[in-house]
Amino acid sequence: MDQVEEVKSKVDIVEVISTYVPLKRAGRNMSGLCPFHGEKTPSFMVSPERQVFKCFGCGEGGDVIAFLEKIEGWDFREVLEELAKRGGVKLKAFAPTEGGRQKEKILAVNALAGKFYSYLLNKHKIAEPARKYLEKREIKPEIWKKFGLGYAPDSWEKTYSFLAKRGFSVSDIAASGLVVAREGREKSFYDRFRGRLIFPLSDARGQILGFSGRTIVEGDHGPKYVNSPETVVFNKGSVLFGLDLAREYIRQKQEALLVEGEFDAISAYQAGITNVVASKGTALTDKQIAILARTCESVALCFDEDIAGDRASRRGIELMDAAGLVVKVVRTGEFKDPDEFIKKDPIGFAKAVVGAENVYDFFMESAVSRFDSTTAEGKKKIGEEVLPVISKISDDMVRAHYISKLSKVLELDVSLISEAVAKRSGSIAAPAVVAKGIEGKVDMEKYFLALYLTGDKVFRDFFEDLNDKDLAGEMERELWSGLRVIINNPKVGTIAQAVSLLPDKFKPYVDNLFLLSLGEEVLEEENRILELSRIAKRIREKSLKRQMSKISNRIKESELAGRQKDTEELTFKFKEIAQTLKGEKSAS
Ligand code: UTP
Ligand code: MN
Repeated sequence: MDQVEEVKSKVDIVEVISTYVPLKRAGRNMSGLCPFHGEKTPSFMVSPERQVFKCFGCGEGGDVIAFLEKIEGWDFREVLEELAKRGGVKLKAFAPTEGGRQKEKILAVNALAGKFYSYLLNKHKIAEPARKYLEKREIKPEIWKKFGLGYAPDSWEKTYSFLAKRGFSVSDIAASGLVVAREGREKSFYDRFRGRLIFPLSDARGQILGFSGRTIVEGDHGPKYVNSPETVVFNKGSVLFGLDLAREYIRQKQEALLVEGEFDAISAYQAGITNVVASKGTALTDKQIAILARTCESVALCFDEDIAGDRASRRGIELMDAAGLVVKVVRTGEFKDPDEFIKKDPIGFAKAVVGAENVYDFFMESAVSRFDSTTAEGKKKIGEEVLPVISKISDDMVRAHYISKLSKVLELDVSLISEAVAKRSGSIAAPAVVAKGIEGKVDMEKYFLALYLTGDKVFRDFFEDLNDKDLAGEMERELWSGLRVIINNPKVGTIAQAVSLLPDKFKPYVDNLFLLSLGEEVLEEENRILELSRIAKRIREKSLKRQMSKISNRIKESELAGRQKDTEELTFKFKEIAQTLKGEKSAS
């Protein structure tokens, strides 16, 4: 056993996680509220048998080491040392991992580059145009210093040679994304940011993960903003510009003002609205929402684009709602963006922030202002726009409130609106017992395998009922055929034995199956076998239908091509399968 395995074997994941999250028994697993994203109903699962956890809401998952890395922000080595201490294991000398070393290097390159850029902006004469530009945009030096702004020299190699002179290797500088490789020339690089105003993009602790750079020349041909590429430490969708400055204010207010651009955030901060972060113009991601949900209760959106009309915005709002955040909308009225609003009417902006209304009221008003709520056609249009939004509200009370409100606005019966909302709430009628964590529609094949593998007894009959090719999922198919081979061996008497004999590559997949909550009812053997039969039948029906639809496509093709004989053969085959399907259905 290697050291990592030894340490892991000495601790129980349930015990470790319990000190952070209250866990309750849920069938053979334990469940609780996910500590990595805000939620009101538990979708965080821990499997004592597999010693793994997974959140079906945000997707975080892994072993006890991954849990501690994530929740404590420790690196692998730190986690291992801590666990070794707890488990009384003596660790041998241990070199940091290659990945860990690389991260440290990039962070160091970024930190130094950040200092270089800000030195130039604040002290050097070459940055005069950048300071002029900031003056024109009415940003005061003390504010731009707080945000750590800088200036990248208008040169192809100044940044690169500065970093190299300070002892960083070519490969470390390249890995930071601060330079771009020249095509077709080995180890030849030029500066990515040239003659631009620089914004450091940091995490909550203030470590610089990447940069963005804005042109300061009106009508410049290049892009307005250049961003760091994806690196080992930087991912555009995970950063919120201004977070390190704003986090404490967000926490105090229990609210974040979310804007799109760097300048929107800086302007708001300068105007005294310090709980502000910027998403950098892209649709909100799970990661950004998780950060916000961990820090505050509500988010006030102040975006330029039409939130009601934009699908990505709607998705972001749904995700925030699901994360337990209250979402509000700050209207910019006639102004292009928050930056312009603040410059032209700072008091008006402050009022708009205080008066931000709930996003659902906003949606409703926006629809009512565009369509005539007194006509049938208008009601239909309003319903089409508002119902999908209301039906996604996760809290029952809040949803009921808006159902009642909509019924008043449209002068229609409440029960009618509730029905329409229920119809749209999306989740497909699930099998009797739903693998609760699975998002959206329940995947029957996964559900079947989870039921099968978490039982005690080996049910050999199912291998006759269900052929490998009846399973549509590639992983599911491989697993089923792998199991078939193992279970053919009469010495294998329990499922646990069979599972332990599966090849390693199935481990992560099987871990996930064990983490699904299957409901108490099926834990008894008798119910389990009934449920297995029912699901096997449905999988088989689906498979037959898939085959039929394939053949019917081929029939069309061969008819078009005038291949009479093929058509006849295929039609015969089609009828045969249809007959089988009918037979299997009536047998139930
Ligand atoms: P906008 O184009 O709305 O610009 O992009 P803006 O925020 O008003 O920019 P300023 O005030 O003229 O400087 C919104 C945000 O999208 C990102 C930037 O973060 C920008 O603030 N963006 C925009 C990019 O990353 N790349 C681009 O080329 C443009
Ligand atoms: Mn702007």
